[in-house]
Amino acid sequence: MKKVYIGADHAGVLIKDFVKQLFEKRGFEVEDMGTHTTERVDYPDYAKKVAKAVAADKDSWGVLICGTGIGMSIAANKIKGIRAAEVHDYYTAKMARAHNDANVLCFGERVVGEGVIESIVEAWCETHFEGGRHLNRVKKIMALEEEC
Ligand code: RB5
Repeated sequence: MKKVYIGADHAGVLIKDFVKQLFEKRGFEVEDMGTHTTERVDYPDYAKKVAKAVAADKDSWGVLICGTGIGMSIAANKIKGIRAAEVHDYYTAKMARAHNDANVLCFGERVVGEGVIESIVEAWCETHFEGGRHLNRVKKIMALEEEC
């Protein structure tokens, strides 16, 4: 069973259970890596936890939610092996999978509502990486990790 690691900061925690359930309904095993309350926390700490779990567990996915999705995606992309995509809607979620083979889904609780999140999860789960010319581009992205 494909595993999904999920994390949020205080600005994403209220929608986290809803997102968890969307993945569980689709048959994924979801591991919640916090935070669990609305007490203020630092989003890089949760991005690090989830991104490291995804990097260590081949074929898993991560989901990171903060106020905007921006900070989580910036932080997660610092971890080797991670392609975190901040998405806003069905189309951006679909393209993140189809063209970028993204393995961490990021969005903002202050940006998207439940209806849009449902369509984001649907696009993310039902879209396969297209490979082909996109594979070479993704390989070039991953090769950048060796230049740092
Ligand atoms: C927290 O106020 C907010 O800065 C954070 O959730 C996120 O949006 C950062 O990118």
